[in-house]
Amino acid sequence: MAETIPLARPSIGDAERSAAQRVLSGTQLTSGPELKRFEALLAETSGRSHAIAMSSGTSALELALWAIGVGPGDAVLVTAFGFPAAANAVAARGATPVAVDVHEQSWLMDFEAAARAANSSTKAIVTIDQLGAVTSSREIDSLQLRTSLPVLSDAACGLGGTDADGRPGGVAGRMATFSFHPRKLITTGEGGAVVCDDEELAIRLRELRNHGQVGNGRFAGIGTNARLDECGAAIGCAQLARLAPMLTERRMLVDGYHQRLEHLRESGKLRWQVLADGSQHANQSFSIVLEKRLGRDAVVGALQAKGIGCGVATYSFAEIGIHKEAGLAPVAKSLHEGALSLPLYIGMRSAELDRVCDALAEVLS
Ligand SMILES: Cc1ncc(COP(=O)(O)O)c(C=O)c1O
Repeated sequence: MAETIPLARPSIGDAERSAAQRVLSGTQLTSGPELKRFEALLAETSGRSHAIAMSSGTSALELALWAIGVGPGDAVLVTAFGFPAAANAVAARGATPVAVDVHEQSWLMDFEAAARAANSSTKAIVTIDQLGAVTSSREIDSLQLRTSLPVLSDAACGLGGTDADGRPGGVAGRMATFSFHPRKLITTGEGGAVVCDDEELAIRLRELRNHGQVGNGRFAGIGTNARLDECGAAIGCAQLARLAPMLTERRMLVDGYHQRLEHLRESGKLRWQVLADGSQHANQSFSIVLEKRLGRDAVVGALQAKGIGCGVATYSFAEIGIHKEAGLAPVAKSLHEGALSLPLYIGMRSAELDRVCDALAEVLS
């Protein structure tokens, strides 16, 4: 049988290898010049004044919530459809994540539903840049004004994408977070970051990620260790330098999927995310939703049996059985049940796109 086509694969080249080697040839393995360089590059890329690198996207979310004082008794509105890291981070702070449904077409937060759900217990709102689609910065700004609540943008998958106004993923909200897990647009191994424009918040986040220390041996309060190491930061610099060509390649691959799968879309067997005109999807994943009667799990099984690395696109946190007070989010539920991701990675060849699309057409026929 032909080799399995992976669902995803990080793109690590000579630049990343020599960056790691540079760190390993010295003695400073944490909190050094690579971290400073990476944070400066990241702030520039996301259009923010400050970037604070973290050990993961999840620790970035947790510390962002911590920094604005989210705690027991608070409710936080969270986009229902999206990896449950944001909802889990809210629960880890002792607060309750409340699900806000998404739009059928874009799979992004329904802002009217968010405004309706906000009440006196709500402490913050978390939007999620679903699979690389960037949430509208205009809508985020207006929701903050309408509700007087801070919006935290989980842009784990939105780095390098833009919204319909051409504003980059991570630019909107009181803070935004990124993940640099190997399945993301750039990787540091494990890693993440918070970006913001508020200097006091940036100082607070740096304290929280470093055991609450404000200087050597001086502690402002309780903190944790959420530091990104020098090797990760050095690899991150090399990856950020390649972000633009990597985004172009991802866009071309997704165009290739659209061309090859258009006949299945026209016949109503599947559909994909549709964004507002002018947005640029960062294409962290390419996901489709199948016509209900086709049964997503059976299709995933049949594709895997043909050597196609595919899987569930992502989850509605209201459906995973952990967050009992999440409430209902019917559109997110149907995406949770019906969406799947197809292989997408730098270096994917046109013959591999053909193989995935031919296999899908055969399974759906
Ligand atoms: C939308 C979203 N937010 C947060 C995370 C968590 O990131 P990490 O795995 O770096 O903790 C992920 C990871 O899959 C994600 O997809």
